Amino acid sequence: MSDGRILGIFSAPGGVGKTTITICLGWFLRRFGLKVLLVDLDPSISLSLLFFKEEKLIELERRKKTLSSAIDELLEKKTIDEIEKYLHMSKFYDSEIDVVVPDMRFPDTIDRVWYGPRARREYILKDLLDSLKVRENYDITIVDTIPFFDKKYTTITIYASDAYLIPLRPTLIDVYRTTRMLKELPQLTGIDENKLYSKIGLIFNMVATSKQRRMIEAYRDILARKISPHIYVFNNYLPNRVSFSRIGTEEATRQDIRIVEEVFGKFLEEFKEWFSNVADAEHLFLGPEEKVAKIVQTMKKLEKIIR
Ligand SMILES: Nc1ncnc2c1ncn2[C@@H]1O[C@H](COP(=O)(O)OP(=O)(O)O)[C@@H](O)[C@H]1O
Ligand SMILES: [Mg+2]
Repeated sequence: MSDGRILGIFSAPGGVGKTTITICLGWFLRRFGLKVLLVDLDPSISLSLLFFKEEKLIELERRKKTLSSAIDELLEKKTIDEIEKYLHMSKFYDSEIDVVVPDMRFPDTIDRVWYGPRARREYILKDLLDSLKVRENYDITIVDTIPFFDKKYTTITIYASDAYLIPLRPTLIDVYRTTRMLKELPQLTGIDENKLYSKIGLIFNMVATSKQRRMIEAYRDILARKISPHIYVFNNYLPNRVSFSRIGTEEATRQDIRIVEEVFGKFLEEFKEWFSNVADAEHLFLGPEEKVAKIVQTMKKLEKIIR
């Protein structure tokens, strides 16, 4: 079976909520019953730190169980022998989620690939995820990156993923910077504009004031006019709530969890529909009864063919 899907999360400016959304989405999809892998591409280990203690991360780096070592192994042997070595199980509240963790030398590793003799350098993350057999072992793999300041990370994430989620804050600056990034991406990656844009979903995060809520419509309009009328902007937005900044940390209270559940639950419904469409992923979201019905349907078709 290799039915899993890969979602890339990237953004033009930093601090827009990529890591927060990666974690919440991973957690909610896991609770929904999917097997989830999170890939932390940020050398500042912000995502990994919400899953593992510092000592553990230092230990993983020392024992060569992090991203750079995985890439080294892939480049050296063209394959990865023991995939479990790089997939680290963790608990996020009630949910088991696996994480691939970066390390301090990760930027050097990427630079070495990028400026070295390797052909198809933009495929390095795709090749790595293929070697780690993520589509076989996880329903959904979510890649959390750093901002577009370093375009290499956005590029490899685009080549590795089936769909892209791009958070931005409800400010004109973020809208402009996101627009500029999206304008640049087709040329940068060599991927057809329409194909690329059809796989993108933009989500407003940290919506704080009623003025910002009103402005979202104007921003939608700018995005449609400046980028493409076909670009998808989520109807749901994520409000600026301190609960989101505490989730996953020791300060998180029951109330924080409840608030995040309430807000994110609505976004999740829209996410499932969007992701089903753009990543051809409806099979991931079928309930148990629908899954059985689908299997029965397939068997009947097969029977007909055999007869
Ligand atoms: N909806 C939100 N409400 C309140 N704080 C948020 C929200 N989303 C993110 N944050 C906080 O904003 C900061 C930046 O978010 P983060 O997810 O780290 O962004 P990025 O990964 O894009 O740099 C973090 O401190 C995070 O806890
Ligand atoms: Mg981050």
